Amino acid sequence: MRTALAVLGLAAFALASPAHAQANIEAAMTKAGCLACHTKDKKLVGPAYKDVAAKYKGQADAPGKLAEKVRKGGQGAWGPVPMPPTTPDKLSDADLKAAIEWVLKQ
Ligand code: HEC
Repeated sequence: MRTALAVLGLAAFALASPAHAQANIEAAMTKAGCLACHTKDKKLVGPAYKDVAAKYKGQADAPGKLAEKVRKGGQGAWGPVPMPPTTPDKLSDADLKAAIEWVLKQ
């Protein structure tokens, strides 16, 4: 019975998450650790998201490039400090896409 409830709960979560992905993107990013190194408007370990948004404003290929960078990690765009990779178990592809859209709107 317990297992059945857990499975139901997971299914409900999976069904609910696409619709809520945008609304909950900050929560997902907090969980994935992004906001431990980034804030909206102050440089922390990584650049402020508003600076990222300003840097890539109007660049059509930015969302794809940035999503790949977050997925694989990397350094050199902002300085010598590297960003660690973020695997899909920490942030799904859909949430990664929503996260980058959100970052580029700051
Ligand atoms: C351990 C700290 C750390 C974590 C965790 C982290 N970042 Fe970063 N992030 C960095 C650093 C440092 C840079 C600058 C890398 C560089 O100079 O190329 C960066 C750069 C970026 C950039 C700009 C990349 C570029 O090439 O201009 C984006 C977008 C970004 N992070 C988003 C995220 C998202 C989304 C997450 C969560 C999934 C995340 N970061 C988690 C440290 C972190």
